[in-house]
Amino acid sequence: MSMTRVLTGITTSGTPHLGNYVGAIRPAITASRAPGTESFYFLADYHSLIKAQDPVRTQRSTLEIAAAWLACGLDPDKVWFYRQSDIPEIPELTWLLTCVAGKGILNRAHAYKAAVDRNRAEGEDDDAGISAGLFMYPVLMAADILIFNAHKVPVGRDQVQHIEMARDFGQRFNHIYGQEFFVLPEAAVDDNVATLPGLDGRKMSKSYDNTIPMFASREALKKLIAGILTDSRAPGEPKDTDGSALFQLYQAFASAQDTAAFAQAFADGIGWGDAKQQLFERIDAEVSPLREKYEALMARPAEIEAILRDGASRLRAQHATPTLQRLREAVGLRDLSQVSTVDAK
Ligand code: TRP
Repeated sequence: MSMTRVLTGITTSGTPHLGNYVGAIRPAITASRAPGTESFYFLADYHSLIKAQDPVRTQRSTLEIAAAWLACGLDPDKVWFYRQSDIPEIPELTWLLTCVAGKGILNRAHAYKAAVDRNRAEGEDDDAGISAGLFMYPVLMAADILIFNAHKVPVGRDQVQHIEMARDFGQRFNHIYGQEFFVLPEAAVDDNVATLPGLDGRKMSKSYDNTIPMFASREALKKLIAGILTDSRAPGEPKDTDGSALFQLYQAFASAQDTAAFAQAFADGIGWGDAKQQLFERIDAEVSPLREKYEALMARPAEIEAILRDGASRLRAQHATPTLQRLREAVGLRDLSQVSTVDAK
């Protein structure tokens, strides 16, 4: 049976929060167990350098994110789990792709365009404060994907354009060098995966400072949940589930049946304090076994390091190194002793 290759990168910035868990980690780990798929999950630490330039935090975040995925059940014996910067063939391929990528296409990348728009709005030079790294981001991402000939790339809507670009660069390379070197990847956007609201009701995101860290202690979790924004209806008054962050959070951690019962409790006028207590118990029940594993892993960072290195070294030997050898050959970065004397005439 030919396997579908599914590949996702996780940018190593920040501390994992419940939005990451519900929106990315939990569905990805479930998907990684599906038969017929070969999964690739990697820590996109080169990408993280575009935004975060504090070395201690970069290291810390990489460790925390690796530990989070392992604690949630990612099995490094069954999926490829590695760190981008352990695979030097990725930046090498980035250059080969850079040389076929249209600059005009990169000019149209949403993240870059948004940065230019902000500059214009502030009357600054178009490219003020914009690094070449931000501009080249889609090429590095294309290399991540194309190097392993991934078929499917589960991403959020905001990343779909990057997958289109990876297809474009891959196609150009195939065309110029006259062979199907690269599989053209497809974005897989899962509309069923909820975006989790944060404490203030907006999307849970580090940039809004409204997150619930995934591995907060029981006490900290309880406190954070107590701080979720609600309306001012008193106990006994019916409450709206629509637009209630508290309700949406509950739903992300409960069965359909329990969610229906919670909705009924809202209609029956449950007090916000009780509702928060129920939400807390619900989240803690799911997270507390993961928290234990996470803490055990965080206490042994050398083991995490070894897991990542092992993943990368097997992946290089089986895929990345031979692939780059073929690509170098294809573009003419060749052994000079093998030069064709026929062409020279
Ligand atoms: N850009 C992605 C994000 O911000 C992370 C990422 C890097 C990625 N390389 C990738 C995702 C390759 C999918 C495939 O979410």
